[in-house]
Amino acid sequence: MSVLRTDRLVLRDWRASDLDPWAAINADPVVRAYFPGVLTREQSAASVARFQTDLERRGWGWWAVEVAATGEFVGFAGLDPVDDGMPFGGVEAGWRLARPAWGHGYATEAARTVVSYAFGSLGLAEVLAVTAAGNLRSRAVMERLGMTRDPADDFDDPEFLEGPLRRSVVYRIRAGDHRPGGRWARARRGG
Ligand SMILES: CC(C)(COP(=O)(O)OP(=O)(O)OC[C@H]1O[C@@H](n2cnc3c(N)ncnc32)[C@H](O)[C@@H]1OP(=O)(O)O)[C@@H](O)C(=O)NCCC(=O)NCCS
Repeated sequence: MSVLRTDRLVLRDWRASDLDPWAAINADPVVRAYFPGVLTREQSAASVARFQTDLERRGWGWWAVEVAATGEFVGFAGLDPVDDGMPFGGVEAGWRLARPAWGHGYATEAARTVVSYAFGSLGLAEVLAVTAAGNLRSRAVMERLGMTRDPADDFDDPEFLEGPLRRSVVYRIRAGDHRPGGRWARARRGG
């Protein structure tokens, strides 16, 4: 399977030692504010097994994200085919980090490499990202990646029968619009 590296992160396969911190991430109601509830440890364990199986089977999917300098596991980022039952198809990018790992640019850095992989190694023409309309932090990641939203794509997520999380937005980026270096890399190079 593919291991992806960025300046500060390693996107790699899952290890048994990731389960405790992954379960803690999914038990945090702030992390899960835009999802239907927190996850039990069993649900987190099942997700790790599923992610690892997908990575081994097709070489890509939801990678574990580690801070290269410390080896600390901080969450996940990756790609997955859009779930059946959504009003659109394609491959979506996603990210979820432990709260102490927010505010460092890690999600954008991981996502930019994931999107490069989608266009370069997988040869996709487009990558999507989907979130609850109110998830402004995730939408900011999408916008930093250069993704754009057409309000005509907004939809009601069938996972939520009702409530404020139901209204969801779709962001898209086409291969020709992707800038692998991105804003932060340019800023660093510029000094
Ligand atoms: C969505 C999520 C991953 C975004 O995390 P985030 O920390 O806001 O996003 P990034 O990792 O890209 O970090 C960007 C922030 O780091 C700051 N930053 C600090 N150092 C930085 C650096 N060296 N490089 C880049 N950005 C840096 C940026 O200024 C920005 O801060 P701001 O939010 O105050 O503008 C996080 O909120 C999360 O895990 N949420 C719960 C799960 C979830 O909703 N996932 C998405 C479902 S679709």
